[in-house]
Amino acid sequence: MTKRRRHLRGIVRVALIWAFAGALVGALIEVLADTLPGGLQMASLVDIWPPALAVIGFVGGGVVASVFGVAEGSILGTLRSVVRFRRFELSPAARRLGRCASVDDLREVARRRLPRGVFGYIDGAAEDERTRARNCNAFHRLEFRPRVLRDVTNVDPRATVLGRRHPLPLILAPTGFSRIADSQGELAVARAAARAGITYSLSTLGTRSIEEVASVSSGPRWFQVYVWKDRGLVAELVDRARESGYEALLLTVDVAVLGRRERDIRTGFTLPPQLGLDTIVDGIRKPGWTWDFLTSEPIIFSSAVSRDAAGGTGGVDAMGLAQYVNEQFDPKLAWDDVDWLRSIWDGPIVIKGVQTVEDAVLAADAGVEGIVISNHGGRQLDDAPPTMELLRPVADAVGDRLDVLIDGGVRRGSDIAKAVALGARACLAGRAYFYALGAGGERGVDLVLKWFDEGFRRTMALLGARTVDEITPESVLWRNR
Ligand SMILES: Cc1cc2nc3c(=O)[nH]c(=O)nc-3n(C[C@H](O)[C@H](O)[C@H](O)COP(=O)(O)O)c2cc1C
Repeated sequence: MTKRRRHLRGIVRVALIWAFAGALVGALIEVLADTLPGGLQMASLVDIWPPALAVIGFVGGGVVASVFGVAEGSILGTLRSVVRFRRFELSPAARRLGRCASVDDLREVARRRLPRGVFGYIDGAAEDERTRARNCNAFHRLEFRPRVLRDVTNVDPRATVLGRRHPLPLILAPTGFSRIADSQGELAVARAAARAGITYSLSTLGTRSIEEVASVSSGPRWFQVYVWKDRGLVAELVDRARESGYEALLLTVDVAVLGRRERDIRTGFTLPPQLGLDTIVDGIRKPGWTWDFLTSEPIIFSSAVSRDAAGGTGGVDAMGLAQYVNEQFDPKLAWDDVDWLRSIWDGPIVIKGVQTVEDAVLAADAGVEGIVISNHGGRQLDDAPPTMELLRPVADAVGDRLDVLIDGGVRRGSDIAKAVALGARACLAGRAYFYALGAGGERGVDLVLKWFDEGFRRTMALLGARTVDEITPESVLWRNR
């Protein structure tokens, strides 16, 4: 075909595309004329709009293509080479997540999607929430000291925690009542964690049972224990955890009494949620969450109940158990109880909630395999110290006797690197995956775990660290304390 004929064909094609677009616009006007109030006044005209606009489009398109001396080969070709149409995403969760680039974005989507009280339960902390904020700020006050020219073609993010290899120094923290964010709750988180090979810790106050979680996850799992006055019940939970293949016990020790969550008081949030005019209005404004909540089975504390009390099936209603827990939390909990726990569990024990060097030393003396420096994400004692400030002194004191872990404010892969630099074997993350669950269910958790992995690897490469052992105290420095 000659160049001239190719050019002419191009012009005709452009003209036809414009004609088609004109006809579409005309049809749209026709529909609007039928539906809009007052639209009928245009009725006599509408019939001619699609063909008229098609003709105008054909002539206009042809003129534009000829005037610019370009046709399909150039205009459309160029357009095609620079513009790609995005496939329309059918899943609303995927659409929401597609607009997120960080944990802060997930938090924002969760804030918009969940009722105010539910979001406040996840996001909130004790009293003025200063410790919660300081946990995060401590990460912001640490700067990196990147080393360069160190061939980082192969970066190995694996870490050893309690003698087991982990794909990266990250463990999912126990969080109670996960089904408040998404009806799949703990099952969704455990499945996503197993896919990523990351250890999932199930809370005593989980809303899916020890056995249910084990049945959907072949990945590594820890079980978190609150010690209640009824030691028989605790022993039974420990037995069930052993039978279901949980590898370690996390003994949480910072809840002698419950912290005062003032946000919950302001929003009127209770577990389980109680209906009032404000909660009904809130629910109507969050239809996605409300539909999920109303169409799934009632939320119960599935794990933390004796097999007998639950009629062998596991679970009592959350209201009953909330009262029960308040009566059962044992403020007498003391170091002797660690010995008792050791007598009924032969796997590793990790004490969660250590907040001073002195207690870290006592934990090492008690012979536990690990500690988590934790203030419960700032949910218990406001003005408890930000965990990252404790890390180096604690790691120096006991890092050679047990595994030092840390949580509170971990939101990025680079936060994990900072904690490793100051002596942590691994970090635990709580809200990061809880926001993700609220923003996009199981997909959300997959996404946040992917970000943690990518972010940690990227940080290692940019720091010039090829293995976690090469992330050292010299890799970071405090800006101005
Ligand atoms: C909504 C929520 C529920 C929690 N429930 C528990 C729990 O049942 N047991 C426990 O030991 N810690 C619990 N925690 C504390 C976490 O395990 C962890 O210490 C904390 O979330 C770490 O801070 P981060 O959220 O900033 O990562 C909970 C935290 C949140 C946010």
